Amino acid sequence: MKTNIALIGFMGTGKTAVGKALSEKLNKEFVEMDALIEQKAKKPIPDIFQQDGEVTFRELEINIAKDVAQRKNLVIACGGGIVLNKINIDRLRKESIIVYLTASPEVILRRVSGGKEIRPLLDVADPTSEIRELLKFRKPFYEQAADVQIDTSKLTITSTAEQIIDKLKENESLNF
Ligand code: S3P
Repeated sequence: MKTNIALIGFMGTGKTAVGKALSEKLNKEFVEMDALIEQKAKKPIPDIFQQDGEVTFRELEINIAKDVAQRKNLVIACGGGIVLNKINIDRLRKESIIVYLTASPEVILRRVSGGKEIRPLLDVADPTSEIRELLKFRKPFYEQAADVQIDTSKLTITSTAEQIIDKLKENESLNF
């Protein structure tokens, strides 16, 4: 029986907010991989990208994913690029049901523009076309990894969490 839920999907699809709500509803510990990466690197993600490069960031992400994948009873918010290295999903799948959150490019742009958080990959002249390009490339990877898929474009955080729970109840490999 799998005891973790791993949330995957593009930036701005709600992995962190929904993950927190879900962890409270299911009484599981919430962990955010980006925060663990920042702790390990002792610097914020934009600084890792800027000073050390994306390859170093992805190596850190692989190491953190390996640790987290071995733990139990978690709700895990993965970084948007977790699917870029297949080993991450292979490892996570052993203990985790993989829930794929989606949103339209317009909603993604609105959500990532709202907060104070800087997303290095979208810190470019034309973020709208960057989102479309990245989504086009990544979509098959997300889809291949997903056990369950939910479009969050028109949903609140709470209703997304509730829909996930409903879908998971149908999935016998998860132990509540
Ligand atoms: C990334 C998404 C970010 C963060 C990093 C790279 C990506 O996480 O891991 O900036 O490649 O999509 P969020 O999806 O939580 O914003």
